[in-house]
Amino acid sequence: MIGGEIMCGITGYVGKRNAAEIGLKLLEKLVYRGYDSAGFASLDGANFSVMKAVGHMDRLYDKLNGSKPKGGAAICHTRWATHGIPTERNAHPHSDCAGRYYVVHNGVIENYKTLKRALEASGHVFASETDTEVLAHLFEETRKTTPSLFEAVRLGLQQVQGTFGLVLISSETPETLYVAARSSPILLGKGDGEYFIASDPRALILYTRDVEELGDDQIAVVTAKGHRVYDLDGVARSLKAQRIEWSEDEAEKGGYRHFMEKEIFSGPEAVANSIRGRLLIKEGNARLGGLNVDGVLERLSSAKRIYLSGCGTSYYAALFGQYLLKQAGIPAEAGIASEFRYSPPIFDPDDVVVLMSQSGETADTIGFLREAKKKVLTLGIVNVVGSKIARDTDAGIYQHISPEVGVASTKAFISQITILSLFTLLLARQRGMPVENGQMIAQSIARVPDLMQSMLSDEGWIKHIADLSQKYVNYTNFLYLGRGINYPTALEGALKLKEVSYIHAEGYPAGEMKHGPIAMIDENFVSVFIVPENGHRQRVFSNMEEIRARYGPVLAVATAGDLEVNEHADDIITIPPIEDTLSPILATVPLQLFAYKVGTAKGINVDMPRNLAKSVTVE
Ligand code: M6R
Repeated sequence: MIGGEIMCGITGYVGKRNAAEIGLKLLEKLVYRGYDSAGFASLDGANFSVMKAVGHMDRLYDKLNGSKPKGGAAICHTRWATHGIPTERNAHPHSDCAGRYYVVHNGVIENYKTLKRALEASGHVFASETDTEVLAHLFEETRKTTPSLFEAVRLGLQQVQGTFGLVLISSETPETLYVAARSSPILLGKGDGEYFIASDPRALILYTRDVEELGDDQIAVVTAKGHRVYDLDGVARSLKAQRIEWSEDEAEKGGYRHFMEKEIFSGPEAVANSIRGRLLIKEGNARLGGLNVDGVLERLSSAKRIYLSGCGTSYYAALFGQYLLKQAGIPAEAGIASEFRYSPPIFDPDDVVVLMSQSGETADTIGFLREAKKKVLTLGIVNVVGSKIARDTDAGIYQHISPEVGVASTKAFISQITILSLFTLLLARQRGMPVENGQMIAQSIARVPDLMQSMLSDEGWIKHIADLSQKYVNYTNFLYLGRGINYPTALEGALKLKEVSYIHAEGYPAGEMKHGPIAMIDENFVSVFIVPENGHRQRVFSNMEEIRARYGPVLAVATAGDLEVNEHADDIITIPPIEDTLSPILATVPLQLFAYKVGTAKGINVDMPRNLAKSVTVE
């Protein structure tokens, strides 16, 4: 399977071309994974060139100042700091005492302190605070008693607890790279008398589409001519050759200023792709092929409860799923994956777990999956094909949207809640929802891409949001409020603003506002209400008045044609009329665009907000 996403980016090259140049070109495609620091090591014969820089990899290019280190083998890394602050000392690659081995690494070495203590006792001197450096010293140590460097790596890795995707380069074997993986993707790309290595296929497609992914606890010994693969016991293995079909364009910006903008505007396409072939309008039902395996549908029909989980935006999608399933009469509960170990759900064997994850590589969600798998049927709603969660769940539904590059989730959330709408329709029909009701819901879902497109093609609507972003850009506090199924929408709207504008924003259930947050309201504290036309909007209007009575500015996302809302809001962004249960899909779009416009108005690189990484692969 083709690997998913993981924090930090790794690349490597061995062949007849300039290795550092190619390794860095590959790395440019991965900077969105982490940009605390970047570095490389390349070998010309037995001579190393090593360079590191703090910050975005542009700093590395500045340092190189146009020079090209010679040599046909190189390893490169862009870092999202876990162990040790972002400094040059902590930047990868890391080396042993003698400077013979350099290592780049993704993942976490859980027993690094124990290993470090033992290595220090044997005389090794460490230069950084990272867990990765332990690997270089460990190989230096094991090499003392092994007949080859391969054996040193193999026996060294047997002592390692935790996760790794790593590449080792050594002056001892200058034309060979050693690549290893455990729960962290690493792909080998075959060229013509050359090999490319990357932790993400998005980089490899620059040079090759013929790839092989290293499995867990496997080591590849890679030269320009070919590679051999072994497991940690030294048994030879073979990898499955695959061809990447993505177009390069799909992973590029396509004329937009930022990936985030492109991804917001591709929301209608994301919904269309997520429902394609799955919506049965005549039958009033949904067909989710990924669930049509090994009795999964039968188990779903008798499931006592659906337990949904995920992190960040994906948790908000899970919460939306909880509201939706319960409204359809299906017992459901959502929980934050990173919290499960402190308050684990008490599972009934007939419960079903649904994990939401764009990347399929989020460590906390994987942790939840590991525990849930022991007890109940687990399903995944995942974007990245072949990612860890996609592989390890019993069955699942792929989002079928192209790669999401912007660090802030946009089209992925839209697609997640669309798929949850299909999932709920399927379960509700299994449990006796009349076909006519199913048809109505299916018809409404089918209309969503066009309704979204009608908003995103309306230049006046977009300009209005841009104007509002100018009006509100200098406010420093926002409360996002919604009731019922639009409470998760409020949470997601607030998270987007926080992530890409660094403005303090909180999502809250509108009814809870008067139980505390109202204390903060004054003329400088903005409230954003999600108030589509539905049975409980009068209660939300009351909440809006409570804010206005305290001079708080009120911005509302409301249904077009709802004239009453004018009386309660200072500013309004409209969405087309739609069934209430689907309103979060439409209401999220202007909230994403508003956050994007505010972030860009502040000059923030919204695709790579500070301190964030696209997928969080540490717990
Ligand atoms: O890849 P996942 O969906 O599992 O990622 C979960 C969260 O890390 C992610 O949604 C995060 O909250 C985003 N930065 C939201 O924009």
